Amino acid sequence: MIIMKDIFDECSLGDLKLKSRIVRTGTWERQTEDGGFLKSEVFDRYEKMAKSGVGLINSEMFVFDPRDRFAEYCNNVNYRGFVKDYKEITDICHNHDVPVLGQLAFFYYNDGLNQKVEANDISLEGIRRLQADVIMAAKKFSFAGFDGMQIDIGNNFYLAKFINPYFNQRKDQYGGNTENRVRICSEIIKVLKKTMDFHVSCRINPWDVRKNGMTPEESIKVAKELEKAGADSIQLTARTISYLYDGNDRNPFLVYVDKLIDEVDVPIILGGSMRDMKSMNDVLNDSKVEFLSMSKPFVAQPDFLADWKANGDGVSICQSCNNCYSKKESTCFKFK
Ligand SMILES: Cc1cc2nc3c(=O)[nH]c(=O)nc-3n(C[C@H](O)[C@H](O)[C@H](O)COP(=O)(O)O)c2cc1C
Repeated sequence: MIIMKDIFDECSLGDLKLKSRIVRTGTWERQTEDGGFLKSEVFDRYEKMAKSGVGLINSEMFVFDPRDRFAEYCNNVNYRGFVKDYKEITDICHNHDVPVLGQLAFFYYNDGLNQKVEANDISLEGIRRLQADVIMAAKKFSFAGFDGMQIDIGNNFYLAKFINPYFNQRKDQYGGNTENRVRICSEIIKVLKKTMDFHVSCRINPWDVRKNGMTPEESIKVAKELEKAGADSIQLTARTISYLYDGNDRNPFLVYVDKLIDEVDVPIILGGSMRDMKSMNDVLNDSKVEFLSMSKPFVAQPDFLADWKANGDGVSICQSCNNCYSKKESTCFKFK
C-alpha cells in the first residue's frame, strides 16, 4: 500500500517532534527598538505562526559582529536583551509545542586582525576563534530556550565560501579535499553534539553556478561530511537561483534532492517558491522529500497554515513581489 504524504502529517525531524512537515525558514524580522530589543510585532508573529500548525520555526539570522554585511537588517546574538527577549519567543513556540531553532549566519569574519579575513588567509588561531564564537552563540541560543541552531553554510555566507573550492585553496588540513574544507564546520558540530542536547541543522547550497565552485556532486559530499560530524538536519538553499515548480518539467532541485536523500540518512528540508498546498503535496509525493520550508508566505500572513488546515487546501496570498526581501524586513508591502 502506498502511503501518501501530506504537509500536515505529524512527523519527527531528528529528535524534534513536528506537527507538520512545514518549516518556517529563516526570515529577517528587522523589528527592533534602539539597542536591539524586539518590537511587539515580532512576538505577535511568532504567536500566530506557532498557533497555525507550522512544524518548526527557524529564527531570523543572527550575526555576532555589528559590522557584518547584513547586521543592520537582522539581530545580533550579543545584544543586551538577547536571552530575555528570545526566552519569551521560544516560550511562545513551546506553549504551542512548536520547536524553534536559532539561525547563525555571518558574511564576514573578523579574526581580530582583519575585519574581512578570507578563507585562504585566516590563521589556525583565527579558525579556532571562529569556531569558539559559533559555539558561544550556540550556548546563548540554548540559554534563550532554543531547541537547536541552524548554521548557515549556504548562500554566499562566510562558511559557504570557506567550504567552496572556488574560494578555498588552503594547503593545510582546512583545504584541499571536501573533508578538509568542511572540517571547520565538522569540528564545531562534533563539539556541539558532544557537549549539548541540541539539534544542529545546516543550510547548504546544492550548487552555485561558479566555474570550479560548488557542484551537485560536491554538495552531496559536503552533506555526507556534515552527517558524519553529527548534523541532525540539512536545509537546502540557493545562491541566485530560485526554486520554481510549475508541475511540468522535473525541477532540477527535485532531481538533486532525490539523489541526496539516497546518499544520506540525515533529514533534508527543501524550500523556495512553495505557495499552494496542492503542489506542495505533489512535491512530497513525487520525490523523497519529507520536509518543506517557506519564508515569504509567512511574511504575507503569519497564520495562513491554520486556514489551509481547516479547508484541506489553500494558496498563499504572497505574490512573490519580493519587496520584503528587497527592503530586508518581515513586512508585506502588498497586503500591509
Ligand atoms: C524578508 C526575508 C528575509 C529573509 N531572511 C533570511 C534569513 O534571515 N536567513 C536565511 O537563511 N534566509 C533568509 N531569507 C531567505 C528565505 O529563508 C528563503 O530561502 C527564500 O525567501 C525563498 O523561500 P520563499 O520562496 O518561501 O520565500 C529571507 C527571505 C525574505 C523574503
